Amino acid sequence: MRKLFFANWKMYLGDDEAEALARSYAEGALSASVDVAVAPGFTALERVARVLAASKVALGAQDAFWKDEGAYTGEVAPKQLAALGVKHVIVGHSERRAMGETDEIVARKAAAVAADGMTPVVCVGELKEEREAGRQEEIVRAQLAAMMAALPSEAPFIVAYEPRWAIGTGTPCSPDDVAKMHACIRGIAGPDAAILYGGSVDPENFRPYLDLPDVGGLLVGGASARPDAVRAFFEAFAS
Ligand code: PGA
Repeated sequence: MRKLFFANWKMYLGDDEAEALARSYAEGALSASVDVAVAPGFTALERVARVLAASKVALGAQDAFWKDEGAYTGEVAPKQLAALGVKHVIVGHSERRAMGETDEIVARKAAAVAADGMTPVVCVGELKEEREAGRQEEIVRAQLAAMMAALPSEAPFIVAYEPRWAIGTGTPCSPDDVAKMHACIRGIAGPDAAILYGGSVDPENFRPYLDLPDVGGLLVGGASARPDAVRAFFEAFAS
């Protein structure tokens, strides 16, 4: 099965930069051995969608609200994203959980995204203290259980294991520990679930993660928004 390279541009790029980088992705994906998706910021979605329209790159979004309309100032409805051609929506990213999103909120968002025909990319992962206390599997199991209870059984979803201490720190989780956690997640999410790894992945260190049999792909933040690193990723994917 082809693996997925999922770029999370976070709030790193202005809209002009996002549009330009989307062109590099569209070109790179032509000869890539992986499937590719990018999640730009909301304001760049429409421009990036236009660039990607005739390409092999899928459009993603970084978040969505759990309702499709109403008095929710500042929120973005899954329906609005679907109308722009978004296929995958990240929910429960650790940077949002750190701002107060609970498992229940994440579960509602995942269900709303699926109800609008898109695939939720549900992020799970433990804090440093939780891993130090040996509680990582307990934490991730609880995060997953909440999401899976809210999602209809036939709805597609992607899980991204992103230990919170590994995100943006330059210290990824070791491939051995990723393999252990992915086996745990697979036990809950099922044999067919796509499970990504994310957290300080870059063009120099990605290969051992991508080669793990249980890893369905990578969720990449910082490096996915840097043009030089993007070139290096695509060179590696083409070889
Ligand atoms: P990072 O972020 O690659 O910058 O560590 C990953 C993510 O937050 O999805």
